[in-house]
Amino acid sequence: MQAELFCINAACGARYGINEVLYNCTRCGGLLEARYEFGHPDTEALKRTWRERRMSNAPLDQSGVWRYRELFPFINFDAGDDRHIVTLREGNTPLLNGPRAASYGGLDRITFKHQGFNPTGSFKDNGMTAGVAQARRLGMQRVACVSTGNTSASMAAYASAGGLEPLIFIPHGNISYGKLAQALEYGAKTFQVEANFDQILALVRVLAERLGIYLLNSINPFRIEGQKSIVIEMMDQRDWKVPDWIVLPGGNLGNTSAFGKGLREMHELGLIDRLPRLAVVQAEGASPFYAYMQKRGQTPFIPTEHPETLATAIKIGDPVSWPKAQFEVETTNGVVERVTEQEIADAKAIIGQAGIGCEPASAATLAGIRKLTAAGVIAPDADVVAVLTGNVLKDPDYIYRYHTGQLKGPGDCPIHPNFGNRPVVVPNDADRIGELIR
Ligand code: F0G
Repeated sequence: MQAELFCINAACGARYGINEVLYNCTRCGGLLEARYEFGHPDTEALKRTWRERRMSNAPLDQSGVWRYRELFPFINFDAGDDRHIVTLREGNTPLLNGPRAASYGGLDRITFKHQGFNPTGSFKDNGMTAGVAQARRLGMQRVACVSTGNTSASMAAYASAGGLEPLIFIPHGNISYGKLAQALEYGAKTFQVEANFDQILALVRVLAERLGIYLLNSINPFRIEGQKSIVIEMMDQRDWKVPDWIVLPGGNLGNTSAFGKGLREMHELGLIDRLPRLAVVQAEGASPFYAYMQKRGQTPFIPTEHPETLATAIKIGDPVSWPKAQFEVETTNGVVERVTEQEIADAKAIIGQAGIGCEPASAATLAGIRKLTAAGVIAPDADVVAVLTGNVLKDPDYIYRYHTGQLKGPGDCPIHPNFGNRPVVVPNDADRIGELIR
């Protein structure tokens, strides 16, 4: 199976071998993507094989990424490349129904694909197992990323598990303690930089080049390969029945790129019979992609210089993957929406009340769905899958503040606990507590 890196810029189309350490096209600076000659596999046989692997005790079969390895042939199993793979049994995340959340979103029904069930609690694990495998294939010893928290938690775990040295760069004071704690616990060398995500990414790119460190941000095309598995597993779990919409939050736009690529490949191979529409939702204070797509083609992409949102995971003003994301949104006839801090906070509480829970960025999905159904873009009877990207425990501080009415958005703007659930302080007195419960 031939695998190559291609510049996505159609006017350039430069090609590179997959053993080169590259993140951008050296000719035009464009983004790179892995492409394969898949040939014409027997799709029914593939689907059966993937099902059978679920019964297997082999570590790579148990991975919700490598179970689908035929679609990630940059790892050549026949040549023994699989020895480089580090799996923590990523993926295998459930599809969950949330009837109350559906009615809040203006839908008859909704399905959540909850990536927070991953080993480090976010969808980054799907990509990281692939990125770390490629790092090890290339013989790299150090890996680095800038992160709003989840990428760093995931990279720390996979790199340490694979005997690599993880170096993490995070915006000082701007990531949740849950995520920072994970990076420390998983043994990453952690630098808290006094700059925002976009500024630190530029810094880390210089350091990676200078020190020969492998960069594992989503600009790395192999991370995107791994994240394709989220939609592949989703279709497998739905018996290959394509939903009308897949809704996801947008930050650096790597996941949007990965979903689009995975869907296109499945469609081209005949694994699915049509493409679902992608709906990408950004936080209002960090929504350059929304702004750009509103006036598509008429204005250049303008980064948000000072992104602001309490959903720190998506607090990104200059998303590197926007050209890929634009292509994927357009290919799927998708849309981009933006939501306020209050809308995110309330949607998050509703997802919590459904017994599901997620971190703030993930709740942008339900908030966006509510707006899109109200605007008539998504029909009430549409078949919608919302991807919850991170676990509820990633940001407990946000939760406590919301429920106790102490949450304040950018510019100290108060967020009302419309679905708040304040803890009650009581005396050690059964009669009084009994009264309160009655
Ligand atoms: N949701 C969560 C929970 C995230 O952590 C991220 C990104 C996104 C959504 C947005 O995904 O960047 O692919 O558009 N977090 C990155 C990080 C930036 O560093 O952990 P995207």
